[in-house]
Amino acid sequence: MRKFVDYPVFRNIGKIADDLQFPAYVVGGYVRDCFMGRPSTDIDIVAVGSGIILAERFAAELGKNVKVSVFKNFGTAMINYHGESDWQIEFVGARKESYRHDSRKPIVENGSLEDDQNRRDFTINALAIALNRENFGELIDPFGGLKHIDERVIQTPLDPDITFSDDPLRMMRAIRFATRLDFEIEPNTWSALERNAERIKIVSKERITDELNKIILTAKPSRGFKMLESTGILQLVFPQFQLLKGVDYIDGKGHKDNFYHTLKVLDNLSENTGNLWLRWAAILHDIAKPATKKFEKENGWTFHGHEFIGAKMVPSIFKHLKLPLNEKMKYVQKLVQLHLRPIAIAEDHVTDSAVRRLLFEAGEDIDDLMMLCEADITSKNREKVRRFLKNFQIVRQKLIDIEEKDRIRNWQPPITGQIIMETFDLKQGRVIGEIKTAIREAILEGEIKNEFDEAYNLMIKKAAELGIQPKKEN
Ligand code: CTP
Repeated sequence: MRKFVDYPVFRNIGKIADDLQFPAYVVGGYVRDCFMGRPSTDIDIVAVGSGIILAERFAAELGKNVKVSVFKNFGTAMINYHGESDWQIEFVGARKESYRHDSRKPIVENGSLEDDQNRRDFTINALAIALNRENFGELIDPFGGLKHIDERVIQTPLDPDITFSDDPLRMMRAIRFATRLDFEIEPNTWSALERNAERIKIVSKERITDELNKIILTAKPSRGFKMLESTGILQLVFPQFQLLKGVDYIDGKGHKDNFYHTLKVLDNLSENTGNLWLRWAAILHDIAKPATKKFEKENGWTFHGHEFIGAKMVPSIFKHLKLPLNEKMKYVQKLVQLHLRPIAIAEDHVTDSAVRRLLFEAGEDIDDLMMLCEADITSKNREKVRRFLKNFQIVRQKLIDIEEKDRIRNWQPPITGQIIMETFDLKQGRVIGEIKTAIREAILEGEIKNEFDEAYNLMIKKAAELGIQPKKEN
């Protein structure tokens, strides 16, 4: 254990704690991550005394320029330490917490190390290493956290009903850690998740979404979502996603289960990108399938227009989850709306104009859209997958060729509204839009080149059809 704390920073903190005559420990994630061989830069120090005084004394020894951020209300202090490594060190006094039934906000009192370890979420997060001279480097592991790291198990230190009831966000943390570290949840802890799922309702949407995002950003997020689903938590925090689960049968014909399909798409995509919003687009790409589901005698199950309805559902889902209602949301909407287009093009004869249109609509996000669409091919039929991927290659090549030729990706049509208004001495109005659309359509269809002169000529022609002549030059 000694090797994990054998740095001047820990020795110095220990020395100051000796001077102040109280014990100090490094606890939580840093210790867990050391044992797991995953270096961490967040250090939590617990003092059985004042964490704030310990932090201030430590900062004073480091020199004048070191800033301590003190959060009096929480009894914590934070230092950004640039020494052996760049570390963020948080100091807190050991505490004992008691909770009321209806709130996540505990009544906090000073406590012993044991009290502090008791109030922690999981045994693997309740490990402490001593920093004082007399026991420097000693591991204090009252709940078998080290064994649980070895066995790859998430388990609460106390009765799980108490730990989860104290702070129901920990239910999502349990699933997040199990997903991220690829651990199992111990059976007793698991039953408590099922029993206490309803308690998640007292947690703020922001905190829930924060955990959800952390699960989404793991290497294999499907595992986390399956756990959220089977404990009943998903239904409570993200009911729209829960609706994707299940298969209906009519005339002996079933459709695919869109919950598991979506999770496969999300996992596929996650192998290639760490972009949270692209991962959200995968989660939401088929979100309108339940709403658009129909059984047609001739065609079987259909989900007509689910891409458009899905894009329309994105803002209310983002609002519900308190996700940002800004350009990130627009990006997700765009990908949801366009997610069938590359496949449709690939299935058909791949024409220049279809590819040009796709480039125009997807713009800068075309590569992300292609990545999403490739991840969306989850068929078990090998031959079908091979054919799709091959056609996708053709679409990709066409995208490159057309982009090189026409530069549509960041495209501004060569004739602006301003030029139209000046040429014909017109004020803002419907005709300007009509002429602009005619030019854009002609370029996208490949009827004229994406150049000023050809577009200018078409503008004169289109205006003439509308009975408008250029203004006379003096
Ligand atoms: N903790 C807890 N209950 C919570 C949040 C945190 O008991 N709801 C405790 C855990 O002991 C945890 C420590 O506070 O180890 C620090 O919390 P946090 O920084 O959120 O998690 P880490 O374990 O450090 O993990 P990571 O930073 O990797 O998310």
